Amino acid sequence: MTLEQAKEKLAKYGQEHVLKYYGELTEEEKRGILDQIEATDMSILEACKHKEDLAKKGVITPLAAMQLDEIEANRESFTATGIEAIRQGKVAAVLLAGGMGTRLGSDNPKGMYNVGLTHELYIFECLINNLLEVVHQADAWIHLFVMTSDKNNDATITFLQEHDYFGYKAEYVHFFKQEMAAATDYEGKIYLEEKGKLSTSPNGNGGWFISMKNNGMLDIVHNEGIEWLNVFAVDNVLQRIADPCFIGATIQRGCVVGSKVVRKNAPDEKVGVMCLEDGRPSIVEYYELTDELMNAKDEKGEPAYNYGVILNYLFKVQDLEKIMEEKMPLHIVEKKIPYLDENGEPVKPETPNGYKFESLVLDMIHQMDSCLPFEVVRRKEFAPIKNKTGVDSVESARELLVENGVVL
Ligand code: UTP
Repeated sequence: MTLEQAKEKLAKYGQEHVLKYYGELTEEEKRGILDQIEATDMSILEACKHKEDLAKKGVITPLAAMQLDEIEANRESFTATGIEAIRQGKVAAVLLAGGMGTRLGSDNPKGMYNVGLTHELYIFECLINNLLEVVHQADAWIHLFVMTSDKNNDATITFLQEHDYFGYKAEYVHFFKQEMAAATDYEGKIYLEEKGKLSTSPNGNGGWFISMKNNGMLDIVHNEGIEWLNVFAVDNVLQRIADPCFIGATIQRGCVVGSKVVRKNAPDEKVGVMCLEDGRPSIVEYYELTDELMNAKDEKGEPAYNYGVILNYLFKVQDLEKIMEEKMPLHIVEKKIPYLDENGEPVKPETPNGYKFESLVLDMIHQMDSCLPFEVVRRKEFAPIKNKTGVDSVESARELLVENGVVL
């Protein structure tokens, strides 16, 4: 893109200020910022001016979960189906590790966090240990795709290589980078991170499948005959990945998505819950749950919206390919965004100072025709690390790891 074209694009979206230091840049930096301006989708930035219109929900009705007793009664059969699919190479795992982990506040990728106390035990290591259990049970390797972002890609790859993938087979590990989106102040003006660089942040975890495609990962999926992708978050150190019972249940029930869920702790717990929205599977966020929905009961007299998602989904590849062109809803999230002040000095803010723009994997559920919410025991499978202390923290996860026999 030429300087003139860049100016034209910026004028269209009221972002001319990002060229403030253009005259001071080296030729390489000039090229860099022009390329960035060309690649940035600025049409989405306007959305922060009418944020309240973004998340309009349809009609919400309950979607029953497969509960523990039903799972126990069918465990053997579900597990056999799942193991068979894994042995046939039909299942792969996708680790979503492109996030910034700002709440944890470490400069390294979240997976590099050491939760060990008497020995080193990294978050990535916990996840790989969990996956290795299935590899041994099925006696078959499972492809593991790892999504990173520009901000943490090199550190993630180097760390895993240096640790020999914690015993995972290197040729079964594939890295790909997600896309970035511009980050703005509260008026929707893009921040500068450096004089020749727009502030950007990863564009949310909802673009994972498109990013797999853009990075050639779908060639591996097709060549290997992978039919199911188990997408999971980096921060839940207890989760079972490529869980044969979960895979088997989703296949046997003929669903195109499975979603691991936990029974809510309290009606107002801050988790998104599974539901139907206009008759299609969906997730209603805790802040969208009206009192009426919160107190609604099912035919057994139990809360009708009682199963929270834990970001562990099994998607059927064929159906993901059908929705690839569909536009996903945009979420605007307040974040701490490093920026240059008016004197051109870099600032690392202590409190949120603007917006980042994200699409979320949970919105993909609504694009799918059918979904099986599959209950898991919270204290056995849900130990997310979002914060250093308190709820969903390093502290709470350590307690749960010990409770499940992991030596820290
Ligand atoms: P979170 O919603 O916890 O976001 O991500 P985060 O960026 O990691 O952490 P905070 O909010 O800044 O503290 C849930 C999962 O989605 C991944 C994360 O790595 C985590 O596994 N994620 C999130 C991405 O892969 N890309 C993104 O752009 C955002």
